[in-house]
Amino acid sequence: MKVIGLCGSLRRESYNRKLLREAIRLAPETMALELYEIGNLPMMNEDLEEGGFPLEVQRLMDAVSEADAVLIVSPEYNGSLSPVLKNAVDWLSRAPRNRVLSDKPAAIMGASTGYLGTSQMQKELRGVLSKLNMHPLSRPVFILPHSKEQFTPEGRLTDPGKTAKVGALLEALEQWTLRLKSEV
Ligand SMILES: Cc1cc2nc3c(=O)[nH]c(=O)nc-3n(C[C@H](O)[C@H](O)[C@H](O)COP(=O)(O)O)c2cc1C
Repeated sequence: MKVIGLCGSLRRESYNRKLLREAIRLAPETMALELYEIGNLPMMNEDLEEGGFPLEVQRLMDAVSEADAVLIVSPEYNGSLSPVLKNAVDWLSRAPRNRVLSDKPAAIMGASTGYLGTSQMQKELRGVLSKLNMHPLSRPVFILPHSKEQFTPEGRLTDPGKTAKVGALLEALEQWTLRLKSEV
């Protein structure tokens, strides 16, 4: 199973990118989870669609189309989505008949330095994904509050409970994706 991982932060030492790298390490053997960088997309501008999508946008659309599911790992900015993530989702939504995102299974994770661990962003993101006819996994919910204290210098999660939960979420995403495929 192919899963594309999108990180909503461009920060060099991003906790969310560390979390996504941990997810890649902890993914089941049957899952090929890869990080796809979304920081080089142009800002959404419909004028740029004249004569076809920009190359970086088309590449992302192709990569998401080829994936069986999407894993989004993102910070919360002022109670909502980061502009980097929203920009990528908005571009993906511009594919003709929404054929890139429609019916695509998804899972959400997030790390924040605050104590709510991106729960507000996750709620908003769920709404956006549902509006685009995606199928975000509801459970297990994964939040990583107080992210400054959650990683070793090597980028490993310090809490074994959180480590196990990342694995559980990926297994749930795999099952969810297989179930949705079998129902088509
Ligand atoms: C513009 C901005 C808004 C933020 N808003 C929130 C917020 O609403 N809730 C929260 O828990 N943290 C907020 N933070 C703090 C982030 O949790 C923190 O910067 C985190 O490290 C970002 O994730 P990253 O490490 O992956 O870049 C905000 C940070 C920025 C830069």
